[in-house]
Amino acid sequence: MKKLTALITLLLLFTLSGLRAQKFEGLAETPPMGWNSWNKFACNIDENLIRTIADAMVETGLRDAGYIYLNLDDCWHGERDSLGFIQPDPAKFPSGMKALADYVHSKGLKIGIYSDAGRKTCGGRPGSFGHEYQDALQYAKWGIDYLKYDWCETEDINPVGAYNLMRDAIHAAGRPILFSMCEWGTSKPWLWAKDTGHMWRTTGDIYNCFDCIDQHPGWAAFGVLQILDMQNGLRQYAGPGHWNDPDMLEVGNGQSVNQDRAHFTMWSMLAAPLILGNDIRNMTQETKDILMNAEVIAVNQDKLGIQGFRHLVEDGLEIWFKPLENDDWAFTVLNRTTEPKSYTINWEKLDLYDDVAKRFTNFDSNVYSIRNLWTKQNEGDTRKVKEVTVPGHDVVLYRLSKKK
Ligand code: GLA
Repeated sequence: MKKLTALITLLLLFTLSGLRAQKFEGLAETPPMGWNSWNKFACNIDENLIRTIADAMVETGLRDAGYIYLNLDDCWHGERDSLGFIQPDPAKFPSGMKALADYVHSKGLKIGIYSDAGRKTCGGRPGSFGHEYQDALQYAKWGIDYLKYDWCETEDINPVGAYNLMRDAIHAAGRPILFSMCEWGTSKPWLWAKDTGHMWRTTGDIYNCFDCIDQHPGWAAFGVLQILDMQNGLRQYAGPGHWNDPDMLEVGNGQSVNQDRAHFTMWSMLAAPLILGNDIRNMTQETKDILMNAEVIAVNQDKLGIQGFRHLVEDGLEIWFKPLENDDWAFTVLNRTTEPKSYTINWEKLDLYDDVAKRFTNFDSNVYSIRNLWTKQNEGDTRKVKEVTVPGHDVVLYRLSKKK
């Protein structure tokens, strides 16, 4: 009898643990890095493009710099089959998704796909509403590693329910899939989605412009500075496994080198996912140098996973700090204006306490060596006041390493 009770208890526990909702842990201990088709190609994607992008990720060195996800965005979809399983567009993906995923995997990369919690995606393709478990199964069968889950056509849907439903569907399908939530920050996912997704969009879409808003009736897309400003107050909600996502990068899509450098720097300071959005098959040397600057990537990928913060604003300049491992700090002067500006860095005046990292800078008692991460020069230490000139729409980025 005792044995029987033990057996029943064990069975019950086993079943319950299987039912317990959870996301796959360990998939995003540092901010995810990769490439996504939307910013450059929008709906114009097919298997040839994706294969040549996979090749380019390897040949350019992007994969080895850390960009391992190759993500298809909207418009890969065809129809559902007679049983309701989603199929790729047969004209654009004639070899099928499994073959494409195999190809991407053969290059040492991971593959991502896109769907939407509503009845239709933003591009009007079939959404996952009512097919969540089936879609997750299909993605798992194809070998998908990453799902971006959008929020169009969801007027009557509750976001907490919808995103947890897809998380559970992914879990039930059994393949570890990184879950990227794209509901544009509308329901403040940073307050509820830590155990739901690995990252959540905090804003509407990025617009390929440094400082402007692309206003439409009922919605808007935002430039780099506008998106940056919308990250205020969110840093305490991000960390290893659950990141604020200020949207994908526009680096290499036509802004100036200064603007691209500033954009990449600020996304690194924010511990944002670094998802490229340019045509990596044709990059200038400047774009490559920005996207593959290992020391800047290291700021983004720092193991502490603490998002940086704006410490002060002065005459169009902003001073930002990001706490790093080993008591280091990343330090940025951002010039929001279009004119070059000079600034005197008086370190002792920048003494501060960061209540997220629970750490003081202590410039009065600590000495930090200064490494300029863009010029790759060592520039002395923090015992001396420092003059910098920052070009318009550009940054100075330092790593401050505490001298032991
Ligand atoms: C929404 C998302 C974008 C992109 C498009 C695709 O606007 O926020 O990132 O995925 O849909 O249609």
